Amino acid sequence: MKENLNKIIDISIYAPSGDNSQPWAFKIIDNAIYVYNISDKDKSLYNFNMYASMVAIGALIENIKISATSFHYECDIKIEDDFSKGLIAKCVFRENFTIELDPLFKYIKERQTNRKPYRVDKINKAIINELNDSNNFSDIHLEIETNRDNIHKLANLCSNNEQIVLENKRLHDFLFDHITWTEKEDNIKKGFYIKTLELEGPQIIAFKLLRSWGINKILNKIGISKFVANDNAKLYKQSSAILSFTVNKIDRISFLKTGMTSQRIWLILTKYSIYMQPLTGIIFLYHRINSNENTEKFNNEHIDLINTSYSFMSKILNTGDKNISIMFRIGYADKPTAATKRRKAEFILE
Ligand SMILES: Cc1cc2nc3c(=O)[nH]c(=O)nc-3n(C[C@H](O)[C@H](O)[C@H](O)COP(=O)(O)O)c2cc1C
Repeated sequence: MKENLNKIIDISIYAPSGDNSQPWAFKIIDNAIYVYNISDKDKSLYNFNMYASMVAIGALIENIKISATSFHYECDIKIEDDFSKGLIAKCVFRENFTIELDPLFKYIKERQTNRKPYRVDKINKAIINELNDSNNFSDIHLEIETNRDNIHKLANLCSNNEQIVLENKRLHDFLFDHITWTEKEDNIKKGFYIKTLELEGPQIIAFKLLRSWGINKILNKIGISKFVANDNAKLYKQSSAILSFTVNKIDRISFLKTGMTSQRIWLILTKYSIYMQPLTGIIFLYHRINSNENTEKFNNEHIDLINTSYSFMSKILNTGDKNISIMFRIGYADKPTAATKRRKAEFILE
């Protein structure tokens, strides 16, 4: 069984993660895979209280469940009560020849984040129903926004994140530290390859200049950060729908479940050749600045921008007293230009 469990891990790590941080590690004992969160792998300001890592690990666990079926294994996921020691879940496998291959299995490696413009074609009702039916958690809610006016408003609000990234040194430095500029560098360094950002002509030149915080700061004086945000808003508007997940409570388990259910939805969309891009900056920053445990200082202009953006998002989505945990744009598009890489799975030694 150990060999098969290793194979399950090798496929499951094709889960998405913030900045491709891949914050997981594993232990195999007998018929179980233990899944750990490695907090050092994602030190981004966006990863407040490990919420972004929990989404990534939730997606990984969903992949494990799906991959288990390729070996006719039943998979029982036991989520830990307390994540403080890094252990998130124990996945226990048992052979059962009545278990059939989950049809989503073949999309695990095919799924990708696509940052190209999408066509705004309507998504067929049957697909929307399939997405709604795939959510197994009663405390995680999915909203599918297809109203064009609301998509445009949400696109503008999400893009405010890009302005903040170019005006906050820590966010700026973290972003540029996680970009790999050549294929060779991409093979050895953590992060994601510049080509996955799908920048074009003048955008590539501007992006290379913005890498230097000094130049970035000078260009901000003539409005580059707002210009980039506006450019991104135009891209985000080119989507068929915006998916948002809301949760009753802001805690790690809610983000873990968000990761599990959103991964299932991502794989279903991949089956229909519909792409997704997470749009998470404002949401994660909002949860950071509004927590008593936040120690990071943002300037007042950014605090206002984050709070008003999140509050307008909530109004448009009619979330009531629920909290937004993640948002995605979706649509039909050409294939991404490049794919992100995965490190070899890491194992925790006894
Ligand atoms: C919690 C989380 C947050 C993310 N936020 C963003 C985002 O705001 N914008 C974006 O373009 N991609 C975002 N991503 C996508 C990751 O960058 C992507 O999953 C990673 O680079 C691996 O690439 P892949 O999804 O193509 O496999 C996010 C992914 C996760 C899991």
